[in-house]
Amino acid sequence: MKALVIGGNGFIGTHLVSALQRERMDVRVFDRYPSKFVEPSKTVEYVIGDLGNHGALSEIVNDVDWVFHLAYTTLPKTSNDDPVYDVRSNLIDTIQLLQECSKAGVNKVVFISSGGTVYGVPKSVPIKESHPTDPFCSYGITKLAIEKYLHVFYHLNGLDYVVLRVSNPYGEGQNPHGKQGAIGVFLGRIAKGEPIKIWGSGEVVRDYIYIEDVATALLAAARYRAKDGQPRIFNIGSGKGISLNELIAEIRQTVEVDVQVDYTPARALDVPVNILDIELAKERLGWQPFVDLGDGLARTWNWVKALDPVKQITLI
Ligand SMILES: NC(=O)c1ccc[n+]([C@@H]2O[C@H](COP(=O)([O-])OP(=O)(O)OC[C@H]3O[C@@H](n4cnc5c(N)ncnc54)[C@H](O)[C@@H]3O)[C@@H](O)[C@H]2O)c1
Repeated sequence: MKALVIGGNGFIGTHLVSALQRERMDVRVFDRYPSKFVEPSKTVEYVIGDLGNHGALSEIVNDVDWVFHLAYTTLPKTSNDDPVYDVRSNLIDTIQLLQECSKAGVNKVVFISSGGTVYGVPKSVPIKESHPTDPFCSYGITKLAIEKYLHVFYHLNGLDYVVLRVSNPYGEGQNPHGKQGAIGVFLGRIAKGEPIKIWGSGEVVRDYIYIEDVATALLAAARYRAKDGQPRIFNIGSGKGISLNELIAEIRQTVEVDVQVDYTPARALDVPVNILDIELAKERLGWQPFVDLGDGLARTWNWVKALDPVKQITLI
């Protein structure tokens, strides 16, 4: 069995690749950059390239059973800065990819959507998959459009798929100097002795999920066999909400150093609360999260502290 991981050198992708290797799968990674944090594995086939290079796609999907589509060129904030780029580089390039997957007879496509943005401001929490979708950002709209195209390709061509609407993943390998992932960025700033920056008053509630639990959800999704009419879209989170101020209190306990916090004005694209209902994934995928926030924070802090400040490379 062979898996293709598009975006396999990113945060979630590197953990998924390790999980696939533990399952003794053959793995091909397609990514536009090498990993910032993980040494390449000798048993993985790496292809460096861009999803926008449509000519390369038939070759990369050739001979694979599962395709995990994890590549995304935008974040919620940057997608609103340039929605045209978001549509071109994510929606259009993904449609091209799905055409190639159909032609090649790929067994299953697993796509990571966004549990944090597709719903918009929730009318009720925890949020079920059936909740209305009203995103505040282009990123959420293109994720939803890809979900719909996956359904069309399934309906017309029989291309099987599963969508995981992932909440807020964190853990080893999340760029502590990047722009996404509050926990990673907070710990990165603490390691450098810098203050944490919070948009708003810190009351915003999020659902944080440890990265290894996301990797096991991706594997469970690939193995899931749905019949016509059965659910193919699943929330993946911890099912629990915690405010930024509560998160900082937890972080203070973990890091045992002084933590300074700067509060700045709230951003319009941040919804006040996001907690996912994960019962459907538990029931259908036989999946559940195992690592609680305290344990996950400790593991992540150990990794951030151990980072080589020059090379930034470590083995996960
Ligand atoms: N990290 C989060 O908070 C979060 C939350 C929900 C959903 N997601 C989704 O999960 C997926 C993976 O996220 P991540 O956190 O691992 O991101 P990441 O940026 O760490 O990894 C994405 C990888 O995709 C590659 N990539 C991007 N565009 C590409 C292209 N056009 N061609 C080839 N490679 C390309 C990047 O080089 C990178 O290695 C994304 O689709 C993201 O939208 C992430």
